[in-house]
Amino acid sequence: MIKKEKNIFSLHTLNTSYIMRVSEKGHLEHLHYGARIHQKHFDTLQPIVRKPWSGHPDNDGSDYTLESMLLEYPVFGQTDYRLPALTLAAPYNNLNLVFDDFDILEDKVMLDGLPCGSNAPTLHIHLVDKHMKLKVTLMYSVYEKEDVITRAVRISNLTEHNIHIEKIMSTSIDFRDKDYEMIHLSGTWARERHVVKRKLVQGIQGIESNRGNSSHQHNPFVCLARKGTTEDFGDAYGCSLVYSGNFKAEIEVDAFEQTRLNMGIHPDHFTFEVKPNESFDSPEAVMTYSYKGLNGMSQNCHAFIKNRILRGKYKHQPRPVLLNNWEATYFDFTEEKLLALADKAAQVGVELFVLDDGWFGERNNDQTSLGDWFVNMKKIPKGIDGLSKAINEKGLKFGLWVEPEMVSPKSILYQNHPEWCLHAGDRTRSECRNQLILDYSKLEVQEYIIHHLTEIFKSGNIEYVKWDMNRSVTEVGSTLYHHGEVLHRFILGLYQVMKVLTERFPNILFEGCAGGGGRFDMGILYYMPQIWTSDDTDAYERIKIQHGTSFMYPQVTMGSHVSAVPNHQVDRFTSLSSRYHTAIFGNLGYELDLTSLTEEDLQIIKAQIGAYKSVRSELQYGTFYRLISPFEGNFAAWQISGEQNVYVYYSRGIASPNDSIRYIKLKDLKPKTAYSLNGEVYTGDYLMHIGITVLPKKGDYGTEFYQLNILD
Ligand code: GLA
Repeated sequence: MIKKEKNIFSLHTLNTSYIMRVSEKGHLEHLHYGARIHQKHFDTLQPIVRKPWSGHPDNDGSDYTLESMLLEYPVFGQTDYRLPALTLAAPYNNLNLVFDDFDILEDKVMLDGLPCGSNAPTLHIHLVDKHMKLKVTLMYSVYEKEDVITRAVRISNLTEHNIHIEKIMSTSIDFRDKDYEMIHLSGTWARERHVVKRKLVQGIQGIESNRGNSSHQHNPFVCLARKGTTEDFGDAYGCSLVYSGNFKAEIEVDAFEQTRLNMGIHPDHFTFEVKPNESFDSPEAVMTYSYKGLNGMSQNCHAFIKNRILRGKYKHQPRPVLLNNWEATYFDFTEEKLLALADKAAQVGVELFVLDDGWFGERNNDQTSLGDWFVNMKKIPKGIDGLSKAINEKGLKFGLWVEPEMVSPKSILYQNHPEWCLHAGDRTRSECRNQLILDYSKLEVQEYIIHHLTEIFKSGNIEYVKWDMNRSVTEVGSTLYHHGEVLHRFILGLYQVMKVLTERFPNILFEGCAGGGGRFDMGILYYMPQIWTSDDTDAYERIKIQHGTSFMYPQVTMGSHVSAVPNHQVDRFTSLSSRYHTAIFGNLGYELDLTSLTEEDLQIIKAQIGAYKSVRSELQYGTFYRLISPFEGNFAAWQISGEQNVYVYYSRGIASPNDSIRYIKLKDLKPKTAYSLNGEVYTGDYLMHIGITVLPKKGDYGTEFYQLNILD
């Protein structure tokens, strides 16, 4: 999988190759990333062509220049004028990195304080600067079956003085041409991860977050797809980060129509001091390539997340059907109301009851008490222990909401420790949802949170925790560290707190959340195997959100609930079956006042949950395909292929009169295998090339769900 022959390094997965060469002057050239290549000699690839205005590093009369070379880890100041991957603060801002040594490791060296993909064969290439004792180690791990290669970078300061990193990209990939479309997942709160496509043009384009969290606005994922690539055919590259903070993906098309993709921590407002004999690790970037179009690329990413990022008890386990009280009661609940909800939940077959915001301190609205992690005995007179027992007696597991990174100015914690939140000197502390952010770069803050959450998690039979985070950063600063280090140190502190708590409570199913999907990334998924996808629970809105999310993330990571009508975010009416159909393409939950439903609706829900439970392992863990995009018209369709069944979702959006008969063509079935659907038997090739017949129906926002049984 990892080979070094002469001056060529090659990494191979099942279907991809990544090839580099040490140039005659020691620079690391990038030769190829993409389809698997068996070629061993690359002498005629990338000849150096003299360009007017090019610089020549050694002034030896040769045409050698970095300007048009494809490079593996570019820096400023050495005849390459494109976006650098690494910048140190002046006076060390001119670097000249050349090959020094390499190691091929059977076991991956884990990153310092950062989450990353699990163990895999790893190549370290050590580059050194020609003028100062700086070592830059490029770390590549090879995931053969998943067709994924990860990259991270370690900077070791071997000098006698401090250095300051100003930019450190986790990956930098040079492509030989520019004929790609950039696809990214963008939006805002309640409208996360909508698919955006744009053609590359000469110059710089990209996406980023400077909000302290990976953000609702731009997910840390970017795809470069060849012109004309479809869901099924064509070259598609995916690149993402195992990181939850500020990030940047920058793409430069140069004057010679070559493309550079850099991705890493956002370099703005970032600087990190590395002392002599210390080192700094970048977050890990995850890269994949597929010639099987966008579905192929997504399936590689899904496999990587399922096999290599998710961990713990729930890595392979079916996720429970839950009822969350948030949209049922908001802050306005009593123990009696909660138990009444739990009764109905147990009746319809729900397995887990989740008590959301409002159970602690004086929290009867969003203006107070974050940070005061002790039970409000007025609302929950028998405490968490009493409540969890009462819920357990009804045959349900019990779960709890927390938002541990935050503090309300109206709280005991803030009164005692106003210095514990992120703030920049005497500047105003801008509130957002009436809250401030705790400074997780401080050890005492981490310890306080770990201690209090441990007490809470121990105080009853808690088997699920929703970990929320409801604002972006402002006035970034800390009394302890240089302002440029604070946000990265915040994320390191967050990971440390998550590490301790998830290890201390291995039986708890943790679900990440940030005002819905404001931090839907692999950094969180490493600790918490599912994430609340969006605060928008409308079944129709959710189609675009879940479709976009599926570009990078598998369905088992997406929390997805049936909520009330009219929907609380958009006032829309959708049928109970549409809400259910959409929700089962993530992890099914309910988030509505079951006590206000008719007996008939409760019976429908009971039947839905029963049907879901009988197939949920396949629905949650099967192979996901996008069939029809909601971004291209009125319809949407998805497929999940399991071992025993194939499941198909279809949405028809806005009804139109006298509509056409339509056909849903399935993917990747075995042509001669028989599949049964509603008493009829179809061959795989029929279903792939002719498709399932869908008759027109009246009514907006209708959906269909098909379960095809694989017969032989
Ligand atoms: C965020 C979450 C919601 C809910 C509320 C509670 O908005 O995304 O699901 O938990 O907080 O305040």
